[in-house]
Amino acid sequence: MTMKEIEPKILSKEEIERIPAGINEEDLLEFEKHVLNSFVEELTPIEAKEPGSAWVKVRAKDGSMKEILDVTSMNWTLTLGFAHPDVNYAVLQQIKRLTHVRYNVSTPARIKLVNKLAELAPGKLKGGRVSLNCEGGGMANEAALKLALMESRGADLFGVFFGGYHGNSLVTMTASQPIHVATRFTSLAQRNFFRMPYPYCYRCLWNYKEGLYGKKDPSCNLECFNLVEQYIRGMAPRKLAGVLIEPNQAGGGQIPAPPEFLLKLKEVCEQEKVFLIYDECQTCMWRCGKYFTLTERYEKELNLDVSPDMMTMTKGIAGGFPLGVLLANPKIRKQFGPSEEHTTFSSDPVAMAASLAAIRVMEEGKYGENCEKMGNKITKRLLEMQEELEVIGDVRGAGLFIGVELVKNKDTREPFNDLCEEMVLLAPEHGLYLGQSMPYLSTKGEILRHNVVKIKPPLIITDEDCDFILENFEIILKEALNKVK
Ligand SMILES: Cc1ncc(COP(=O)(O)O)c(C=O)c1O
Repeated sequence: MTMKEIEPKILSKEEIERIPAGINEEDLLEFEKHVLNSFVEELTPIEAKEPGSAWVKVRAKDGSMKEILDVTSMNWTLTLGFAHPDVNYAVLQQIKRLTHVRYNVSTPARIKLVNKLAELAPGKLKGGRVSLNCEGGGMANEAALKLALMESRGADLFGVFFGGYHGNSLVTMTASQPIHVATRFTSLAQRNFFRMPYPYCYRCLWNYKEGLYGKKDPSCNLECFNLVEQYIRGMAPRKLAGVLIEPNQAGGGQIPAPPEFLLKLKEVCEQEKVFLIYDECQTCMWRCGKYFTLTERYEKELNLDVSPDMMTMTKGIAGGFPLGVLLANPKIRKQFGPSEEHTTFSSDPVAMAASLAAIRVMEEGKYGENCEKMGNKITKRLLEMQEELEVIGDVRGAGLFIGVELVKNKDTREPFNDLCEEMVLLAPEHGLYLGQSMPYLSTKGEILRHNVVKIKPPLIITDEDCDFILENFEIILKEALNKVK
């Protein structure tokens, strides 16, 4: 059934078309007076260079326009680039029929998406349970915590890891690496979380030195895991409900946990009947190459089933529309009651239709394979640059989930924070948006580490886009180096 075109009833088409089209000086001045958030960037994105491209046209404060290749995918979200036509067409079809519905109401898009995600789920999550929200990853993580609480008969403690990032709600902030001083309020629920060392092989707490390129030092015996194991087996302050971990820390600095660590973690959690929750908010949706999730990558490439009891996803999962997903092992029999997991917007079919289209485009367009290929090309060149340049300490990542760790000296590995900051600032002048890991701050507010540049462009990038990224990355790095020296 083809739906009629949309005909506005009250406003003119011309007026509505102007809404997203642009701004003038006056709008901008007025906005700066009123806006409560202080993260307003210099450049205002106006429109995709072409539908579904990694490039966006932006307006500078002086009114001039330029084109930028977004190596951040707008916070790692635009899997298919800006304004992808297929995703937009799905959204159009959906909004012509139905937009908002009440929570706990099913729609065709929701039913199909739950079924599709259950099918795509890796390992022991396959064919499992799915809960959706239209807020994102923080809410999906909270849903995972809730489900673990419901299943754990009174246990209410969660193990989390140094350097983790799980969201910005008052509870998921507590689960995340504290950013002392940068936040002026206290996050809540402190008594429900404790933190364990994450296997950061490049900066191993046990002083192994050969943990490079996202791999552990060949002689390491996973001493860090012994400590984690002690906590899980009873040294934690109270009975544990779950352990929440990013299998590859994103905000923390693009740090993959060794698959062997994940396997051991899974085994101990199973033995102790503690729910293992993977936060694959960033690593899902073929971001790490040929596979839908990182978990699936380890299963298919290494023949290791590290799959957890629950997994959360967001970012690219809906091609840029707001969606959070919780996947749970089919063995978990409890379901959320109507008051246990909902918000006003948790059932909106628009993002769900977008997600179904985005997933199909990824499959049909074989963009996971493109991601693998382009990621390999970028990594290969970055490794060559590393040979030439003292400041590139480490290059890590699978697919287009790449981190470049900048150091003052390859031996001491002293973080080169200023260089990283300068690169991100300079990047738009050279036609790129570059991203940076989150800061690690001391309690006094000193920056301890803020030195990983992220290369996470849309997964649809072309060979020419890759060349442009690499060429300009090098120029930006050298220019920034001259500035901060
Ligand atoms: C690994 C990870 N988990 C959770 C979140 C939180 O997602 P959201 O901002 O959609 O709440 C993020 C966001 O950056 C993330 O990177």
